Amino acid sequence: MDTLKKFIPKEIEPQHGKVSWVSPSNIALVKYWGKYGDQMPQNPSLSFTLSQCHTTTTVKFTPKKKRDDKVAFDFLFEGKSQPNFHPKIETFFSRIAHYCPYVVDHNWIIESSNSFPHSSGIASSASSMSALSLGILSLEKQVKPEMSQDDFNQKASFLARLGSGSAARSICGPMMSWGISKAIPGSAQEWATPINETLHPVFQSYQDTILIIDKGQKKVSSTLGHDLMQAHPYAQNRFAQAHQHTERLMAILAAGALDEFIPLVELEALTLHALMMASSPYFILMQPQTLAVINLIWAYREATQIPLCFTLDAGANVHLLYPEEYREKVQVFIAAELLCFCQEGQYIDDHVGNGAKKM
Ligand code: DP6
Repeated sequence: MDTLKKFIPKEIEPQHGKVSWVSPSNIALVKYWGKYGDQMPQNPSLSFTLSQCHTTTTVKFTPKKKRDDKVAFDFLFEGKSQPNFHPKIETFFSRIAHYCPYVVDHNWIIESSNSFPHSSGIASSASSMSALSLGILSLEKQVKPEMSQDDFNQKASFLARLGSGSAARSICGPMMSWGISKAIPGSAQEWATPINETLHPVFQSYQDTILIIDKGQKKVSSTLGHDLMQAHPYAQNRFAQAHQHTERLMAILAAGALDEFIPLVELEALTLHALMMASSPYFILMQPQTLAVINLIWAYREATQIPLCFTLDAGANVHLLYPEEYREKVQVFIAAELLCFCQEGQYIDDHVGNGAKKM
């Protein structure tokens, strides 16, 4: 495609270098669920960039002694060699090689660690794939220092998408959109864009307390869930709904309309899980504790009028979303009524953040 030609650099001489990036996770408000072709989303999605949940990745590159067309890398996770991660990284390298031809001219040493426990049920593909993309792209920036920040971010998001769709939204903050929506000028299928200018201040410091309901490995991967959308009986209506939700949420985000934000975000979360339950084969990722927490959130909101709501990822954990001004009150509620549903009392206190940072 012509628009993607801009991502193919001119010949780059082999380089020596080492760079570290810290890249955050993100939580979708309008969910990406369903893809086609080369990691293209079936519908637009909108996410809050997180802050405390992040991956730190150091990428070291050296010229190969003898040039060939194979990717050569070593991968260490939390200090240990991790061959079971290799297939995912190999697929990623092969997908980006056309846009980063220099990947095959170097030996790569990749060292990665997460701020959150590996087995916490927190999806790490968004933060890890964005951090790796930023590390690889830093080689190109080293050769082309004139590359603008916007161009760098756009290509980083484009590469991250080829690693994991949601990773495209982990480059900048505090909110990102991915996928073409008529409500978002400049929105694209191939990369995510920040939507900061139109964000009401209440959303610029939004809180996300993540209750760790189930630390276990997910029983059904997101990739399989996306695949099941292909023959899903409700797919076309869902994709149309996600377009409408994106348009409505953009207006809500600009106005700071919390009373409209809450029902839309909760509907998106429950729709995601309803799609899972209605796919063939069907599956359920919520746990009884997930439902108990949701009911308590509804009762608390009704009793206090505090605008606390929830969203869900493709798992059992619950993300509690609320404005910063209610932080103290909500924390008291969480400690008194919700922590008992968390595995080993674990939770992560997070809030929206500004995107990836080079160390
Ligand atoms: C439910 O980005 O993990 O979190 O593109 O196959 O790597 P792949 O899937 P992934 O899917 C995320 C799905 C989701 C919703 C979202 O983040 O928008």
